Amino acid sequence: MAAALLQAPGVQISGCRVQPQQQSSGSSSSSSSSSTTLVAGQSSRSVVLSSAYFGRSKFVARRLWIDKASKKEFCVLRTKKQQQGVQCSVADSSTIQDSVATTQLIPGSEKTPEGVECYGVFCVTYDLKEIDEQKPKTWKKMLRVVVSGAAGMISNHLLFKLASGEVFGHDQPIALNLLGSERSRDALEGVAMELEDSLFPLLREVNIGIEATEVFRDADWALLIGAKPRGPGMERADLLDLNGQIFAEQGKALNAVASPDVKVLVVGNPCNTNALIALKNAPRIPSKNFHALTRLDENRAKCQLALKAGLFYDNVSNVTIWGNHSTTQVPDFLNAKINGKPATEVITDRKWLEEEFTPRVQTRGGALIKKWGRSSAASTAVSIADAIKSLVNPTPKGDWFSSGVFTTGNPYGIADDLIFSLPCRSKGDGDYEIVPDLQIDNYLYERIKKSEKELLAEKKCVAHLIGDENGYCDLPEDTTLPGEQ
Ligand code: LMR
Repeated sequence: MAAALLQAPGVQISGCRVQPQQQSSGSSSSSSSSSTTLVAGQSSRSVVLSSAYFGRSKFVARRLWIDKASKKEFCVLRTKKQQQGVQCSVADSSTIQDSVATTQLIPGSEKTPEGVECYGVFCVTYDLKEIDEQKPKTWKKMLRVVVSGAAGMISNHLLFKLASGEVFGHDQPIALNLLGSERSRDALEGVAMELEDSLFPLLREVNIGIEATEVFRDADWALLIGAKPRGPGMERADLLDLNGQIFAEQGKALNAVASPDVKVLVVGNPCNTNALIALKNAPRIPSKNFHALTRLDENRAKCQLALKAGLFYDNVSNVTIWGNHSTTQVPDFLNAKINGKPATEVITDRKWLEEEFTPRVQTRGGALIKKWGRSSAASTAVSIADAIKSLVNPTPKGDWFSSGVFTTGNPYGIADDLIFSLPCRSKGDGDYEIVPDLQIDNYLYERIKKSEKELLAEKKCVAHLIGDENGYCDLPEDTTLPGEQ
């Protein structure tokens, strides 16, 4: 067991990174108000999941080393990039041999903050070597998945899917970095407790925090769910500005600390424009990596077509949502297929397709809010899972999926520099291409243009957040989210 602890700097210990700034040898270790040497002994040790603070953010499920015999525990290390160290208790150095790492601590912060508890299985000690040995050799390298709005309803459904392996695969260990707000601190801890209590083998690490620049560090995927809902009396332009500021900050944070190839899926509304704002504030990350969630709309459209055709959902394919995740979105029945045949040959009632199917999909969010008294959560989480699965698995031959993607260079003549929902396909490597040559008739064309116009107007409203000059906000009448009616 101890051998694992004594490896070179940067060793990954059961999902917990240890990247010392410098290495010291021998049996000495030191602790002061500004730095401490963290060490691991030859003797058998266990690891316990517990809590730690980085800057102003609290993270749980950091590992504390604990000496089984003496029950003394000592600090886990965060990455060297952090340069801040952690607040946690440090073992009595006399019990520790073979120093492996040094990190900076915030002066005076070596003590565990009052009130820090361990949560669920975070309190359970277990043998690290055993865990490493038990880890199947076929498992892939760990992915770090960031979720904002982590204490909200959508996340409450989504996180357990992510942790179960259903989304990224049953050979894909993950770390979850959960971003919440000051207000949701306790709820975030509750989420972390439930995740740990679920004993997901693939879930190697859970971190919670309220600072995007901490929580987004090294993210491979960022699922940006948290956004403010439109309040009473609030103009839509106000919502664009309010949420836009959140996504500008988060774009900057991704740019600063996320993996350079991080894939970003924006769910918080208005998601297309929020995704554009995040993209524009993250020039280091390829624009192609930014998505806005329109898979929920695609799923809704498939459901309606299946119901009308009297068939099960999986008979419906090739459904595109064009445009904005708003009531101007265009659910495409023209190129859709039912049982491999054009949907318009199976559902010959064009009036129904235009006048019932289309508005029903466009306003499904509002219909749900009326029933639930709040926005859709479970089906949104399912659609986020579907959207990710579509990028990490090859698209079935001849099919495609919808995602709000960056338009520059698109084959449909949609204005450049927008996030617009288009038909996409993937080889399963996280990347995608836009599927060209779909049939666009006058009906589709007019509606696609209307959605494009709406997104151009939204973009003008947030010019101040994307580095454009001469912005002004003049939104078209029908600019409403699916839930606003
Ligand atoms: C949905 O489509 O269910 C949500 O985007 C609804 C909304 O407007 O918040």
